[in-house]
Amino acid sequence: MTPFYITTPIYYVNDVPHLGHAYTTIVADMLARFHRMRGDDTRFLTGTDEHGQKVEETANKRGLTPQQLVDQVAPRFEEAWQQLGISPHGFIRTTDDKHKKVVATLWRQIRKQNPEDLYLASYQGWYCVGCEAFYTESQLAKDGDQWVCTVHKKPVNWIDKERSWFFKLSKYAEPLLAHIAKHPEFIRPEQYRSEIVSFLKGGLRDLSVSRTSFQWGIPVPEADPEGLPHVIYVWMDALTNYLSDLCPPDGSIGGPDVAKYWPHAIHLIGKDILRFHAVYWPAFLLSAGLPLPKGIFAHGWWSVRGEKISKSLPATRIDPLKLADALGTGSPLGRQIGIDAMRYYLMREMPLGNDGDFTFESLFGRFNAELANDLGNLINRSLTVISSLGFDAGITPKPSGGIETSGIAEVARKTVADATTAFEQFQLSRGLESIWTLIREGNRFVDASAPWKLAKDPSKRAELETTLYTLLAILHVIDKLIAPVLPSTARTLHGWLTGRADEAITWPAADPLAEPFEVRKPDPHTPLFPRLDDKMQAAIFTQMVPPDVAAGTAEAKPPEAKAAPVKPAEITFDDFAKLELRVGKVLAAVAVPKKDKLLHLQVDLGETKPRSIVAGIAQAYKPELLVGKQVIVVANLAPRKMAGLVSEGMILAAGDEAILGLSAVDSDVPPGTRVR
Ligand code: MSP
Repeated sequence: MTPFYITTPIYYVNDVPHLGHAYTTIVADMLARFHRMRGDDTRFLTGTDEHGQKVEETANKRGLTPQQLVDQVAPRFEEAWQQLGISPHGFIRTTDDKHKKVVATLWRQIRKQNPEDLYLASYQGWYCVGCEAFYTESQLAKDGDQWVCTVHKKPVNWIDKERSWFFKLSKYAEPLLAHIAKHPEFIRPEQYRSEIVSFLKGGLRDLSVSRTSFQWGIPVPEADPEGLPHVIYVWMDALTNYLSDLCPPDGSIGGPDVAKYWPHAIHLIGKDILRFHAVYWPAFLLSAGLPLPKGIFAHGWWSVRGEKISKSLPATRIDPLKLADALGTGSPLGRQIGIDAMRYYLMREMPLGNDGDFTFESLFGRFNAELANDLGNLINRSLTVISSLGFDAGITPKPSGGIETSGIAEVARKTVADATTAFEQFQLSRGLESIWTLIREGNRFVDASAPWKLAKDPSKRAELETTLYTLLAILHVIDKLIAPVLPSTARTLHGWLTGRADEAITWPAADPLAEPFEVRKPDPHTPLFPRLDDKMQAAIFTQMVPPDVAAGTAEAKPPEAKAAPVKPAEITFDDFAKLELRVGKVLAAVAVPKKDKLLHLQVDLGETKPRSIVAGIAQAYKPELLVGKQVIVVANLAPRKMAGLVSEGMILAAGDEAILGLSAVDSDVPPGTRVR
């Protein structure tokens, strides 16, 4: 059995799990399921990162010891994953005894292999407690006279000459470049490899790897001649979790699991923590004389309806369980189907590696089109047809007519090959796309073979038997293909098809329709993905984004139901005359903070003072390019508040979500001129 070992980042316990954390964990779960189905010896590890200054500070504020605090909050992650049906083989906490021992062993091993790699000196510089990372000024942003972290947008702390152990990171730029050149798959996808290669080429500075100003961490296992107590830098501690989970209880680094799984380890991470994984971690391992993991796979970031997920915007902090419950309300399997739908959306919508934007519109769109229409429909109609036209009519599906001639066997073969390669290469969205070609082909097959017509003609009995057999075979293949992504759907369908819902589902063979299966009448079924109509969509939206949370944010408006475009009704001239359209000249344009679609304009309409107009055109126009431009303004639109600003008019633009161009006049017309 080939080993497959996948890890997620271990999450900071001071947060509650949101959609972003759920994404990484679900992707890892999907990959683990895929490999288990293929018979690989699979390990999947997740956990919590519990040491560091941030935890100590929060515990102090709450009057708890850090250990009491982490014991209270760490279960939030473990429980959330359990409820989401995620199946890691283990959940590691950095406060686990074995982990603490292994981190100390790693330190000693570095000291033994390369004594000069750890040395005492004094650290002075900026530190972001949110990232638990040291920064140079070139890596920070200025807000007034304060340096702020670009990730957390909060002021960084100045660490003034703190005595610290340093790790000789500078020595490892060349060895790491050599490793990456020899193993290009070490960092994937490629854009992140290039990012790290150029970072390494710029040279590395030694890294401070211990702190003395707080105590919540793993003690450095060697005395400082000056007698100061040091704790190991929280990232050195946290990164070691991937290895410590495999080590024996005595905390030594080695043993059968390390030998078996470590060379196959893949660290799945968000792009935010690439440098820690692709530079620091392998450098520590090289220094300790230990082999490197097989690779690091970085994925992009989710925003929610155009906004970065952040504590200051509660509407962006989507609770995955709440979303699953809301999405599953209409289904007989409830939350289980909601979880499957969420998994499907997350994996289909954002190709691994790219960034993605979560919107209710796209979620409902995919639910209705791809789950209710394509998959749900195929399952429903096929099971109904097989039971009613076949078994209930005394006809056993048989392959007598030869399913090869139907053409669908070829599509099934290609789909299995494409999906296997895509999933092996972590291209989840592409894999799903190819699985959906087979699902759509299945629906076309039902339409084209029209079994209800065949059933009326006794001379077509052999053809009907073949059609029903082929349909059964397709359902079996689809059941297997969707299992890593839609585990509850696959399990339910498997139960209907075989009567053995608990049986292991395996990945399909290369020639999938030729795989034998037991021909039996499917158990009675119910539709798994009832369509989400406008009313249900609005209800889910309000459940997820209650009005008090939404107030004052772009979330305030429920998504508009995607109706077929309607041709507007005819109007009279009097209707048109009600519009006061005027030529305006843009005097100033600035971006609206935290709203990446909006610009705030000052527009001259020939009145005593310019109009303040907020326009959703930031994606199409740089503010500086608008100044001096002539535009057409709806001047008698009632003023309205947008993003905390008053908008006193609207600019005409072509396009809906993507602005294609602004309306304008082709000669210089005085501001305020009426357009008729
Ligand atoms: N504790 C460190 C990781 C140590 S690993 C040795 C940490 N924890 S975290 O709680 O902040 O989790 C960060 C990870 O959560 C990201 O790398 C990513 O996997 C996931 N995500 C958090 N927000 C996310 C998005 N908005 N989008 C996608 N993934 C996100 O960093």
